[in-house]
Amino acid sequence: MTEKANNKEKKLTGSIKNGLDGDETIDTLLRPADWDNYIGQKNVKKNLRIIIDAAKSRGEVADHLLFYGQAGLGKTTLAKLVAKEMDSAIKITSGPAIEKMGDLAAILSNLEPKDVLFIDEAHRLNRMVEEVLYPAMESRKLHIIIGKGAGARTISLDIPPFTLVAATTRMDLLSEPLRSRFGGTFRLDYYDEKDIEAIIKRSASILGVGATPEAIKVLAEAARFTPRVANRLLKRARDFMQVYKEKEINESVARKTLDILEIDNLGLEAHDRMLLSIIIDKFGGGPVGLGTIAASINEDRGIVENVYEPYLLKLGLIRRTTGGRLAEPSAYSHLGKKTNDRLL
Ligand SMILES: Nc1ncnc2c1ncn2[C@@H]1O[C@H](COP(=O)(O)OP(=O)(O)OP(=O)(O)O)[C@@H](O)[C@H]1O
Ligand SMILES: [Mg+2]
Repeated sequence: MTEKANNKEKKLTGSIKNGLDGDETIDTLLRPADWDNYIGQKNVKKNLRIIIDAAKSRGEVADHLLFYGQAGLGKTTLAKLVAKEMDSAIKITSGPAIEKMGDLAAILSNLEPKDVLFIDEAHRLNRMVEEVLYPAMESRKLHIIIGKGAGARTISLDIPPFTLVAATTRMDLLSEPLRSRFGGTFRLDYYDEKDIEAIIKRSASILGVGATPEAIKVLAEAARFTPRVANRLLKRARDFMQVYKEKEINESVARKTLDILEIDNLGLEAHDRMLLSIIIDKFGGGPVGLGTIAASINEDRGIVENVYEPYLLKLGLIRRTTGGRLAEPSAYSHLGKKTNDRLL
């Protein structure tokens, strides 16, 4: 039990994390290990705590939980916090790591009471594997088929009470039967700029590096309202500071770091600007269909729609219409282009 209290992480079949490079070690260091250091996402935190506290007071495990949202917004961090709060061990795996029904059966039959089973990239679970998951989630049963053909029979094994925490960046790809089996579904949204500033400040202090309020603001503005991006920019600014023998990360260090990374003041990277330029220059500002945009920049439709576009939409640089994507006036002015008197 003491092992569990330590929130011990066990890595399962084909775990997603292989080896640690310098940045990854730092990432572990920067990952908030308690609620107070998990900045922002107030509503999610509040609702989760109610679920967890209620379950704890009944002496039960928490309902199965689903976290979804863009990459780097804190889903994995939250899963670990849930386990910690429940005083449970967390076992980590991911959709693509569970190839066969037998892989999941092995994981489920090795669960111990109260464990949190974290399945990352849950949209990549295959349907056969999902079938094993349903009875486990609903009635803590594991149905195993023994033998083949006419002689095959099913045996049912009980599995201990556990909480499944699943995370996905692609809610749209999650099957409906799986989606409906979670007791709590939480959408992680982009963070406020103030929260991102607080995250950068906290990370800087953990890394033992000074950062002026102006520098923090510059980095926060370019961080795409995303904690992982904020931490990455801070790490690069720290590199820059060291190489150029600055004492702290000041505004000039922050700006030069962004310049080197070709990230502009809105946090747009080269591919974002290219996407906007294509809509404006090649298609007269739109509307232009998603497939056409994807083909023009030689990218997968899904990547354009789910990775590139959300941030551009959030900034109001583009709009989705029934006829396709439209560049907003702010996109023109950001790229220093004229709107061509187009009716907007
Ligand atoms: N609320 C938060 N407060 C402070 N730091 C955070 C917060 N959320 C995330 N972070 C930081 O951002 C990093 C990325 O978070 P995390 O790995 O949990 O994202 P994710 O949603 O699981 O991303 P992915 O979809 O790529 O798996 C973490 O290492 C952590 O340091
Ligand atoms: Mg994650």
